[in-house]
Amino acid sequence: MSIQWFPGHMTRARRQIQEKLKLIDVAIELLDARLPMSSRNPMINDILGNKPRLIIMNKCDLADPDVTAKWMKYFRNEGHAVIAVDASTGSNVSQIPGEARKLLEEKFQKQIAKGMKPRPVRALIVGIPNVGKSTLINKLAGRTVAATGDRPGVTKGQQWIRVGSEMELLDTPGILWPKFEDQEVGYRLATTGAIREEILNVEDIAFYALKYVASHYWGRLSERFGITGDAIDVEDSDEVVRVMEDIGRKRGCLMGGGRVDLEKASGIILRELRSGKLGRLTFEEPYSFMVN
Ligand code: G4P
Repeated sequence: MSIQWFPGHMTRARRQIQEKLKLIDVAIELLDARLPMSSRNPMINDILGNKPRLIIMNKCDLADPDVTAKWMKYFRNEGHAVIAVDASTGSNVSQIPGEARKLLEEKFQKQIAKGMKPRPVRALIVGIPNVGKSTLINKLAGRTVAATGDRPGVTKGQQWIRVGSEMELLDTPGILWPKFEDQEVGYRLATTGAIREEILNVEDIAFYALKYVASHYWGRLSERFGITGDAIDVEDSDEVVRVMEDIGRKRGCLMGGGRVDLEKASGIILRELRSGKLGRLTFEEPYSFMVN
């Protein structure tokens, strides 16, 4: 997925989502559980306004469960309903219609009191590229929904997907942009593979990722790559590079003169992190985003 975002694109994306919001009762904000803040659109509160919102932390199969629990608390404190799911296997996905319906309980109770029969909850999935929107739509639909792409004239050609008896979902998600202007966010998204490596230098991404993993998950790193000794001081760049070289040597990434091929080592480090070879990892903690 390579999307180049320019201010014009953002304005259009925002307008398209706001058109869709007129059609729905609940917005489902999809986040990557490994990066709940970096995978969040910086203007999300402004874009969604006071539309009832359900936050879904997707890819929870890859994220550190203890940190996911902290993030769920963080989002609940923000006043949102939140569920952690794995859209690829469908774990917890069945909770979504019920949770979405709960957000409208008061309205439905009023309708029932007036003798009306509440209709299914209408929902829209929104999220940045690669967060798992299509995967989740397909899971909720119970089939593969053709990707129609996001076009202007949004209300045309859209269809409702029936999800059980409680929910109807728009077949095209709302595509949002991440916080591009923040370099840290860029590195975190590149660490998980959400943005393409070509945009940033692979060695820089691996360095960034290794620094985080060495400071938060040293035991797993040393075990996976057979690194002996105590945890390094991650603020010392030379020590981080030494670990990178050590991993490269152990994985046979050598060039002439016994030098380590850091580019190759970086590719290995990132592949193993992304595919869960070091276990379930989360690359940001809620405390870094709390205002003191
Ligand atoms: P998007 O529509 O938001 O752009 O995302 P999409 O559904 O295309 O998902 C992006 C990638 O994330 C896909 O992998 C998808 O399989 C994976 N994915 C989605 N949800 C989950 C999840 O809960 N857990 C895990 N582990 N992976 C998830 P891909 O490699 O790009 O494609 P594919 O090889 O799976 O087809």
